[in-house]
Amino acid sequence: MMFRVPLLVLLEHGVFLCRLTMTIQKIQCPIRSYVCRSGRMSRAQQRVLARHGSDYVIKKTDQLINFNAIFKHSAPLIIEIGFGMGDNLAMMAKTHGQYNYLGIEVYPAGIASLLGKLADHQANDTTAASNVRIFPYDAVEVLRHNVVDHSIQEIWILFPDPWPKRRHHKRRLIQSEFMALLAKKLVKHGIVYIATDHADYANHISTTLKNCNQFALLSSRKKMIDNCTSSVLEQEQYSHTSLLAGHRSVTKYEHFGQRLGHTISDMCFIRV
Ligand SMILES: C[S@@+](CC[C@H](N)C(=O)[O-])C[C@H]1O[C@@H](n2cnc3c(N)ncnc32)[C@H](O)[C@@H]1O
Repeated sequence: MMFRVPLLVLLEHGVFLCRLTMTIQKIQCPIRSYVCRSGRMSRAQQRVLARHGSDYVIKKTDQLINFNAIFKHSAPLIIEIGFGMGDNLAMMAKTHGQYNYLGIEVYPAGIASLLGKLADHQANDTTAASNVRIFPYDAVEVLRHNVVDHSIQEIWILFPDPWPKRRHHKRRLIQSEFMALLAKKLVKHGIVYIATDHADYANHISTTLKNCNQFALLSSRKKMIDNCTSSVLEQEQYSHTSLLAGHRSVTKYEHFGQRLGHTISDMCFIRV
């Protein structure tokens, strides 16, 4: 009995301390949609990073950024979040020179891979790739702190991590709060493209967007398309939400999904 009371007190104290530590950790480390992967970089990628990083990578700042001052020409701004190895971003920037592109990615090997592609484009044409810049930081932070409200034409999110386990769903990038942030940054009639090969995530995305009155599925709002200045929408042949097929590169994670026999969902929403 003599030992019981202190032991109980100690135990309770321990539980209390543990909870306190967890709460502090939660405050200090918000839930992230990614895990920090150092990602093995090849020697070539390391060289590319050292050689071209300063041309394209934007330094961390807490201030709003005037992108027109950063890019050589002022143009509507398109963002790709989580560009992975950069296949799609490099292709879009090359094909649509009339737009400026901002890639946001936290995966160092992916950033090096995109830099390599941009350097190749530039080697063939010195003016190519001058319409691309890279933010190597958390997209949520970049959008919150560095991007002016109502300034983005399009936001692309291709194959975001599906976080399939239920206890990890809170890590999914597409959440109501995140969509509200995108809505705040997009111009009126701006576009959000999302693709996934994960059926449950596709449902989650569709439900989240349906519950958010700031976006409409593009196919259900065909009238608005006429007023829209989006790069993809300028091309004539689309008529449905599957309009993305043929307008973007097949990405690395799309290949993974295809190999597993997954159905690819391409979704396109307009800021109303
Ligand atoms: C599943 S991969 C898809 C990559 C590429 N889009 C593709 O289709 O191959 C998701 C990518 O998003 C990046 N990512 C996830 N959350 C992010 C965030 N909050 N900010 C920036 N990048 C993020 C990850 O680092 C990862 O490279």
